[in-house]
This record gives sequence, structure tokens and C-alpha cells, in this order.
Amino acid sequence: MVENNSEVPVVAIDGPSGAGKGAVSARVARELGWHLLDSGAVYRAVALAALAADVNPEDQAGLVGLCDRLPLSFRPGDDGIEVYLDQQPVGSRLRSEQVSAMASRVAALPAVRKALLELQRSFRQSPGLVADGRDMGTVVFPDATAKVFLHASVEERANRRYKQLKGKGENVTFSRLFQDLEARDRRDRERAVSPTIAAADAKVIDSTDLGLDQVVAQVLSVVEYRLQDT
Ligand code: C5P
Repeated sequence: MVENNSEVPVVAIDGPSGAGKGAVSARVARELGWHLLDSGAVYRAVALAALAADVNPEDQAGLVGLCDRLPLSFRPGDDGIEVYLDQQPVGSRLRSEQVSAMASRVAALPAVRKALLELQRSFRQSPGLVADGRDMGTVVFPDATAKVFLHASVEERANRRYKQLKGKGENVTFSRLFQDLEARDRRDRERAVSPTIAAADAKVIDSTDLGLDQVVAQVLSVVEYRLQDT
């Protein structure tokens, strides 16, 4: 049973892939000294566990079984938070294109989303939580203190990812990344449960022409304003 931590403040940072939510959320959490939930990593861990156990992405019962006994933990690492499955660091496998595609398929299943709700809510611990995802402000923490919806054009997001992967020496093409991103956006936006949409009370920030520092400053000013209001 998870204790009711509804008085603990939450900043929900939602938006599509590649909008910069990860970097922004990590910086905001550090500035505030609050905990961080990377909910995408939770769905990615389920995808990785499903691939390892050969569970079909259509097998809802099998996937829910995996979620209920997901041996997942987050620990501080050299590069931010490190994800562990079965006490083993998962490293860069979590971000591979195969796991990204599988994560967005399993995340479209209502039973999987329901099975992961309590786990995500258990991150709401004092002094506060920065929650990064798609439905943090709409479903997981609808009473969040501050809500931000961060987006950027598909071109800009594909470009950022292209530079990132090229920098790591990976052999990728811009057009392939662009198409994959568009397909994933569509699946995340059009699914019946928890689609990627801004909460009615979210502050929408377009990061297409903004640097990380500028976005972080905008998010912090929303948080400050909302905290004064409570
Ligand atoms: O944010 P990230 O790209 O790591 O998320 C991986 C996938 O997990 C997304 O494409 C999306 O389908 C799913 N996801 C979700 N709800 C969240 C976070 C991620 O459906 N709150």
C-alpha cells in the first residue's frame, strides 16, 4: 500500500519524444533538490523485460504479469540516473530504437498503463517530485502543483536526435529518424488511453528555438508562481 503523499508538490513535464523533457526535468529536479521520475524509462524497462522474456506485445496478460513483478530500480549514476533490471544496469540498451518502438507499443495497452500507475505514484516523496512523461499532468498526477507541456517541431526533434546519435558514431539517416519519430508521435497521440496531449491547465512551451537554460528558466518560473499560489 502506497502512502498518500498528496501534499507533496509535483511538477509534471509532458510532451512528445525528443522535445528535451529528459534534460529539462533532470536540471529542474537538481535546481529544486527534488526527486525525479523518468516514466518513459519505466515503459522502456517493461519493453526490455518483454523482449528478454519473449513476451508478445499483444499479450496483455503476459505483460501485466511482467509489470507486477518488474525487478526495476533507479540509482544515481555518472550520467544522471541509471536504470537497473534484475540488479543489472541496463545501460544504452534502454534507448535503442528496438526498445523505443516496443515501449510505445506496450504503452498503448490500457492494462499495462494501469499496472504501472502505483509504481509511478510511489515516486511522490518529500520534498517534491519532477515527473517526466506523456500523461503525468493528465492521468498519473492530475493534482500536480505545476504542469508543463514541452514540444518542438518534428524537424528540430529529429535533428537533435540525429546529432546525438551521429556524435556516438551510430550509422543513422535523418529521413529514417524523422519517419520513426512521426510514427511514434502518431501512436502516442492517437491511442485511446493516456494520449500525449497537454493538460488543460498546463503551460505550453515550444522549445524549437530555445536553449536548455531558457526552457529550464521558464519551467522554474511556472513552478515558483504555482508554489506561491498554494
Ligand atoms: O519518453 P520516452 O521516449 O523514454 O518514452 C518511451 C515510450 O514510452 C514513449 O514513446 C511512449 O510511448 C511511452 N510513454 C508513455 N507514457 C509516459 C512515458 C512514456 O506512454 N508517461
